[in-house]
Amino acid sequence: MPKRSGLVVARTRGEAREWHRAQRALGKRIAFAPTMGALHDGHLSLIKLGLEKADVAASSIFVNPTQFAAHEDLGTYPRAEESDLEKLAAAGCSFCYCPSPIEMYPPGDSTRVKVKDLSHILEGEVRPHFFEGVASVVSRLFLHVAPDVAVFGEKDFQQLLVIKRMTQDLGFGIEIVGAPTRREADGLAMSSRNAYLNTDERAQAVAVSRVMFATAAKLEAGEPIRAATDAATAELLAAGFASVDYVEARRADTLAPFGAETCPVGATGRLLLAARLGKTRLIDNVGFVRR
Ligand code: PAJ
Repeated sequence: MPKRSGLVVARTRGEAREWHRAQRALGKRIAFAPTMGALHDGHLSLIKLGLEKADVAASSIFVNPTQFAAHEDLGTYPRAEESDLEKLAAAGCSFCYCPSPIEMYPPGDSTRVKVKDLSHILEGEVRPHFFEGVASVVSRLFLHVAPDVAVFGEKDFQQLLVIKRMTQDLGFGIEIVGAPTRREADGLAMSSRNAYLNTDERAQAVAVSRVMFATAAKLEAGEPIRAATDAATAELLAAGFASVDYVEARRADTLAPFGAETCPVGATGRLLLAARLGKTRLIDNVGFVRR
């Protein structure tokens, strides 16, 4: 298998298996952080966290067609494999799996993984195909790479919960670790899709984190949930957002609604939002605890 500055690159499941068997034989524990590439410091922070939890770090780059709907950005999703592999090597990653679509979904393939309930709320309501695509590809990546630990970003908080549920239900025996969201200096959560923003939109995008942190502070102080989230929606629209898919305060463990006018004292919540700026859809979330 080709190696670049200490990074082994596998393109088939057979090559991936060869690598993980060799690591096992050496007694190494493997941490894995799957990605769709166009890597930024948020992705690289997962590699660093993985190295704190295991002996060697592995990643994958695969723009997964099954998690994009026909009208979404599969064709234009940013691709930068060469520089991604350099970044991974510099971050101390030992292995990257870069399969082709046919390697992940062989001809005639008809198997999918569905995680009920959690997949149909919030992101799943706006993108009904999304979590089935994510669960299907991540389960295959888990089988091909066979890690001990897998690291996912809290940036995609609902995805993290879906993966935890799936891993538990299917008995993968992999420890799932959540990593904090990495942000730009002005607060915007790092995302490969930020590359779609033009200069004006990039300046407007800061409203997402500004409004989110301000709203979380209101919820911590016990302001009524609906009043706080409605005000957040209005502020995003006033800041130039074309539309707001949702601003929701939910229980952090299940993403179920609180079912009360205000969050109960001591409750741990998650504020999640998604809004569109021009053609770009931005998502963000933050934890809060009601005082
Ligand atoms: P992608 O968007 O490339 O993200 C890969 C991983 O990086 C995810 O776990 C995501 O939560 C994490 N991540 C993204 N931005 C981050 C940030 N600002 N701070 C910390 N972590 C961040 O998520 C996917 O790809 C795909 O759905 C995937 C899981 C690879 C399945 O195809």
